[in-house]
Amino acid sequence: MTAKEASEILKDLKNSPNMVKHALACEHAMAALFDYFEKTGKKPELTKEDWEIVGILHDADYEVTGKSLDRHTDETVKKLEQLGVRPLIIDAIRGHCDKAERKTLIAKSIYAADELTGLIVASALVQPDKKLASVSVESVLKKFRDKSFASGANRDPIKTCESELDIPLEEFASIALKAMQNHSADLEL
Ligand SMILES: [Fe+2]
Repeated sequence: MTAKEASEILKDLKNSPNMVKHALACEHAMAALFDYFEKTGKKPELTKEDWEIVGILHDADYEVTGKSLDRHTDETVKKLEQLGVRPLIIDAIRGHCDKAERKTLIAKSIYAADELTGLIVASALVQPDKKLASVSVESVLKKFRDKSFASGANRDPIKTCESELDIPLEEFASIALKAMQNHSADLEL
């Protein structure tokens, strides 16, 4: 499967513009994390495009399953199995909502990055110009600590960057923020 084919699945499942942007944010964060692991010699599984696909598709059926966590990922996985997509991709997608054990870097990465991208978007939206370019790592960390800010963004999975991925929170926030800033036009932020 290619990232383009993954984006087609998002369209097939009639994702809203906001969900498409969330998918894009996660795609870019996952690509940056793949690069980080390669650079640090940690040997990420699969290919960079596979990491992008997990970012694109992890929430693909969230809206079509009525945002029911019970059924979340089932529709996506059904499609991916029919297409013969690699099991590690499917496990990572299922793992992000606790439906599979997170054993791999790819699974642990989407779990930790998912909510962080939401926190970064919320951090941009409170800037005077509402731009990602105005967001700093320090401001993301400050918002991270302020539990009343974007309370829908669960901090616990984000924190697993340290326990599960061995990436300090500050560095993890920086990787995702830069990745999103580099694609701010796509994200319309
Ligand atoms: Fe997500």
